[in-house]
Amino acid sequence: MQTALRTSLPETELASRANFAPTARVVREERQERQGHQVQSSGLPLSIRGLRKSFGDNEVLRGIDLHIPAGQFVAIVGKSGCGKSTLLRLIAGLEKIDAGSVSFGDAVVQPEDIRVMFQEPRLLPWARVLSNVEVGLGRDRSSSDAHARAEKALAEVGLTDKRDQWPSVLSGGQKQRVALARALVSHPRVLAFDEPLGALDALTRISMQRLLERVWRDQGFTAILVTHDVAEAVALADRVLVIDEGRIAHDVMVNVARPRERGSVELAGLEGSILSHLLSADDRI
Ligand SMILES: Nc1ncnc2c1ncn2[C@@H]1O[C@H](COP(=O)(O)OP(=O)(O)OP(=O)(O)O)[C@@H](O)[C@H]1O
Ligand SMILES: [Mg+2]
Repeated sequence: MQTALRTSLPETELASRANFAPTARVVREERQERQGHQVQSSGLPLSIRGLRKSFGDNEVLRGIDLHIPAGQFVAIVGKSGCGKSTLLRLIAGLEKIDAGSVSFGDAVVQPEDIRVMFQEPRLLPWARVLSNVEVGLGRDRSSSDAHARAEKALAEVGLTDKRDQWPSVLSGGQKQRVALARALVSHPRVLAFDEPLGALDALTRISMQRLLERVWRDQGFTAILVTHDVAEAVALADRVLVIDEGRIAHDVMVNVARPRERGSVELAGLEGSILSHLLSADDRI
């Protein structure tokens, strides 16, 4: 019923599951971050160590090790069923971890700090647009500034004029913008997107991509975007991860200045190389 879901696990509880040695890469990235190589932001760093998840005898995640510096925009790609949504759900505390840990630096994590936005907008049909955005405030919904905060979030996604409408009269793209406002209203420090643009037409999709990039730049949260669209991944992300056989098979930096020119030779080259990783994974089916 809600688009913006939240972690139910405090960092201490998440971290207490740790019982393994971090890989050299994770240690190196954490050290670089401490040395100030990353920009300051309101985002939280994310460290995942030895993360495993099975459903019955289906071993979906077989040891994920990953460090995401605060404020980084990471895209995750991989063939259908490889465990992308499962990974997001584990990060958000919506699913139980079998082994390993997910932690968010030294910060005391509040439930509203971590949000997930899904492919379906999941708006409440009986609530007007502004009330739908207020839902994202969680326990702060009854505070005196709830309306003002929701209005500000609606303005950020360019939908102020729709505040009193019912969800049923909105277009698909407008519904997703309301869902984005609902995710943004609590100023999350980690925002995970599970194919949020998958159901949109090509033009609406490009305009939503620009909106996502702008709010990420303005607010500085750590962004994790699961997508099937490799062009979208390289256009938006600082870094693209390819998941295959339950592990991170490729970790590619997108060192292309912003604003990026879609279809540029640089982005097309990166897209081609990531696609070839994905296709070689597909050949094994
Ligand atoms: N609650 C569940 N119970 C049993 N199996 C599950 C559950 N959730 C996911 N799975 C299985 O885990 C595997 C990974 O699923 P997941 O939804 O994470 O894949 P995905 O990479 O997001 O795929 P897609 O790109 O199609 O969305 C699949 O084999 C799926 O059937
Ligand atoms: Mg999925």
